[in-house]
Amino acid sequence: MESRVGKAVIPAAGLGTRFLPVTRAVSKVMLPVFNIPTIEFAVTELKKSGINSVAIVVSSLNSDVQKYFEGTADVQVEFILQEKANGLGDAILQAEKWVNGESFCVVLPDDLIFGEITTIKQMISIHSKYDSTVLALKTVEDDRVPFLGIVESQQIDSLIHRINKCVEKPKLLEAPSNLAIIGRYVFTNDIFDYIKQTTEGALGEIQITDAINAQANEKSVYGYEFPGEHFDTGNPAGLLEASIALAVRDPEKAPGLINFIKSLNL
Ligand code: G1P
Repeated sequence: MESRVGKAVIPAAGLGTRFLPVTRAVSKVMLPVFNIPTIEFAVTELKKSGINSVAIVVSSLNSDVQKYFEGTADVQVEFILQEKANGLGDAILQAEKWVNGESFCVVLPDDLIFGEITTIKQMISIHSKYDSTVLALKTVEDDRVPFLGIVESQQIDSLIHRINKCVEKPKLLEAPSNLAIIGRYVFTNDIFDYIKQTTEGALGEIQITDAINAQANEKSVYGYEFPGEHFDTGNPAGLLEASIALAVRDPEKAPGLINFIKSLNL
């Protein structure tokens, strides 16, 4: 199916407080999974999905992120400044002019997904079928629920849900399910109108989940329960787990690392 989605926004302006002190000098998206910065995985996933036009939303210009992409030829990268840390919804809104009226993707570099076919590519084809916003979904353990966007939905097909509502970082007892939004989105362009109508939500910030909830109240929004393997690299332990997973699958690095882990006598 011909894809009508050609652009992606990567929010990378987060302050990375969970990674202090390193994030005093290094952007969070430059932290490596083994030796590869998380933002590289996001851009590679987009390239594999046929998207070569990417806007990265940053908190300061001339950052290490810009330096990293200098001279990159196979993907066109723009940098957009978010002047004040005011939430994911606000970060995405900064890209409105650049997106220029089209449907577009958002990839959060914290969420690493490994799989045969890229999750965003699957979501673009679901978007083409329904002409609607599509969210990536995964069932999570109870302890993760208060840190994520959580949906109430009906399954309408294998791996596909229709979203009734979504709520950002609910208390476990108030959460409608354990089905969480993971950082991949394909948005219809009117999401920008919903963001503009959104007031401060969880953490006193403009939350994209609240804008999606408003969109889902008025039209159909879909979810894709992706089958790929997911790592949340937004915290130090998750980043380390992803590094270990990557290294033990590398025929050159695996033997030494496995021997080291065995030597710890866990
Ligand atoms: C963001 C979104 C949240 C989503 C999560 C996925 O939260 O606001 O809805 O579940 O990404 O990683 P953050 O990780 O920025 O707190």
